[in-house]
Order: sequence, then structure tokens, then C-alpha cells
Amino acid sequence: MSEITLNEVQRAAMLLMAAIKSVTFYPQAHPAVRQPLQELAGILGDILKEQPEIHLGVVKGVFFMERHLFVNPNAAVSALVERFSQKGIDALTIYVGVTPDDLFRFALLIADRETTAEQLSAELEKNGVRTIRLGIDQLVYGGSDNEAGSARSRTYFEALGVMRDIIREIENGGIPSSDRINAVVGNMVSETMKDHTTLLGLAMIKDYDNYTFNHSVNVGILSLALAAYIGMDREGLHDTNTAGLLHDIGKTGIDKNILNKPGKLSAEEYDVIKKHPEMGAEIVDKMKDIHHRVADAVLGHHIKFNRSGYPEWAKEREFGTINEIVAVADCYDATTTLRSYSAPVSPKEAMDILRRLAGTALNDKLVMKFEEMMGRYPVGTLVRLDTNEIALVVRPHPLENKIPSVKVIIDSRGEVLAEPKMISLALTDGKRAATIVAPVDPFLKNVDISSYLLA
Ligand SMILES: [Fe+2]
Ligand SMILES: [Fe+2]
Repeated sequence: MSEITLNEVQRAAMLLMAAIKSVTFYPQAHPAVRQPLQELAGILGDILKEQPEIHLGVVKGVFFMERHLFVNPNAAVSALVERFSQKGIDALTIYVGVTPDDLFRFALLIADRETTAEQLSAELEKNGVRTIRLGIDQLVYGGSDNEAGSARSRTYFEALGVMRDIIREIENGGIPSSDRINAVVGNMVSETMKDHTTLLGLAMIKDYDNYTFNHSVNVGILSLALAAYIGMDREGLHDTNTAGLLHDIGKTGIDKNILNKPGKLSAEEYDVIKKHPEMGAEIVDKMKDIHHRVADAVLGHHIKFNRSGYPEWAKEREFGTINEIVAVADCYDATTTLRSYSAPVSPKEAMDILRRLAGTALNDKLVMKFEEMMGRYPVGTLVRLDTNEIALVVRPHPLENKIPSVKVIIDSRGEVLAEPKMISLALTDGKRAATIVAPVDPFLKNVDISSYLLA
């Protein structure tokens, strides 16, 4: 698991930008170029002692490195976002063995405004730079840490992998086959039918390296759980889960420069983004063995409950419950993940936002059900217990939604436990193990929630 700190990330971003600026004016041997590159290679090398690769890039106009997001970037990071976006680079992988020379070639290519992402890739290849590559190949959590992982985690990775392959097939101009997505959805539906809370924790995993797949899978899981909670039948669950997974698939056809553009979009750019529901519906329509109501839900996921959304031409159209479920799940995941110009908010705050949208953008009855399902302390909330321990809510209680199961991760003396302790806060033999006092900000405690949700 990555141990990279925010300070290291900040320093690395600053050095990279300093190098990009200097290479335009000075040769490689000049201290203004050599020094930042040497220090940068040092920092990256240290991180790469702990992990095989480093991921960084831009998601929704926000710079990320590993699990760190720069929602309020400094000037250097903003400049970096601007360079990446201008070239349409959304992600970058740096591998073990990266040298100041490699970084120099990379900085030169980024500095040249004329070089496109494709040319950049080709040039790196031509110059024998194998330690820096555009894009991210590996699914971040697919490593050996999780070999002992449960069936749940395997289902999660399978879903991420399926989404990645579907997106690749579309990008290569093909029509994705639905065999694998139907298989993974079948698994998720079976798990959920046994207990609708089983997969919920996984939907709170936030992985900016794989934002597109991660968001799709999370929306798929949240949609599925809500559909199960309101008592949909097996086919309904299957189609709802599929619709959640595929809802943003149309974004594969949208220019990455616009998708990842930092700052406000122009009216024309926003019009381009607004095309993704219909582009997605068109793709899903062509996929064999997928019910047409899935394509319908993809088309209408931004139409809004009061029809103030898009596509405008579809406003009079009938959309079913699946569509409205996906809209609730999409809003919740986007809010707890990343919003334009603001940091991700806690599950509890996200619920407040959803409640404010109930009856206008979102179906109020579904928002009510969603809130009921997630419980007073939604999964993914970090809480302080009356024992003074810090714990993570991992599961709502199936009967009493105020009383979830939690994983204690920090003991009463403030020490992080090597082995987190799973406890139920429900009444057992007339006693409670502990009671929740209040939610705690994970950033303040420097807790990486995702790793605990997967384990
Ligand atoms: Fe969307
Ligand atoms: Fe979405």
C-alpha cells in the first residue's frame, strides 16, 4: 500500500514544474535544470523503493498523485494541470529506475506546447525512456496485497477490469461484448440478494488513478444496493447494476482536453460534455444481450427528476425507476469523490447535499430510501467512539441503521492498530461494545479509508 506523503507529492509536483519551465531556457547541465531533476528523481526513487510504480495525472481538472488530490493547487500545480490538460494527458505512470535523464526528456516534451500526447509517447519510446509512460495500465488495487482478499474484493476488481476492457474496446472502435459484464453483474446481484449491504463498503473506495472505472463501479454498486433495498426483482437488479456501471460510458467519445479541463467550461465545451448520455445510450444499444432499459437509463441519467437537465430533446420522454436510481447513486459518488472546484465531502455532508436536491434534481422518495439504507453514519464515515477509539463504518446494521459495524483503526491512545478490529455496535446480550460519539475528518487523522474498506 502506498505510503507516499502529501509533502513528497507537493515537492515532486513543484520540482517537475520547475524543470519544465527551465528546460525551455537552459541546457540540461545548467543548475536550474539539473538540480530540480536530480531532487525529483531522488524523491521518486525513494517512493519507488516501496512500490513498483507511481501514478499521477489530472482528473476533472484536479491534479492527483497516487491517492493525493490537489483541490486547492498552488501556482506550480495549476501550471502542471494546465500543461497536462493542454496535451490531453490524463494520467502518467512512472516506473522503478527513473533517472534525471528520463525526466529531462519528459520535461522537454511537456515544455514544447506543440507536442501532442501521441508524439510525446512516441518520442519517449524513440529515446529509450521506458520509465515514464502515458496512461495507467495496472489496476491499482490488483496487486499482491490482496491475494488473501475476500470474494467481495475479487468481484470488485473483476468489475474494474471489465470496465477498463469495455472502455478500451470502444476506444479501439469496436462494440464491447456483454459476456463479461453480464457475468460480473450476475455475481454482484447474487451477493447483494444475500445481503444488500455486502458490497456497499466497496463503493466508498476512491481511486483517482482509475477515476473512470472507479466511478462507474461505485455507481454500479450503489445503484444495485438501492434497487435491492426498495425490493426490485432479480432482473431489475441486474439491469440497474449494468446501467450504473455503464452510465458514463459515452464519455469515452468526449475529447479528453474538455473532460479534464481545469476551471470553468465554456458554453460550447459544456455542450460537448452534455452529449455523453446520448453517445453512451447509442453504445449500449449496440451491445448484445443488454436490456433496452439499460440504454434508456444511460440516456436519462442527467435528465433530472424535474426534467431540468439534458439531453433537452428527451425531456418529454418517460424514464423508469432505474434511471432515477442511477441519478441518485451518481450524485452521491460524485459528491463524495470529487466536485468541480471543491474537495470531496464526507458521506454525511454528501447526504445533506442529496437531501437538498430531493424533489428537484433527484427523486425525493428514492433519496429518502437511500438515506435510510446508508444509515445515520454512512459506510465510509470515520467516527470517534465513546471508548476514545477511532473507527471506520464498514457496514450499516441490517435492522438498526443507526448502529453499524465498524472497524477500529486507531486505539484510545492514538496509535494506529496493526490489525484493525472489527466490532458490531449493536446490542449483544444487553451490552454494547461502544457507541459513536461523532464523525471525524479522515484528512485530519491522515487515514486512507480505501485500504481499510478492501481488506
Ligand atoms: Fe454522466
Ligand atoms: Fe457519472
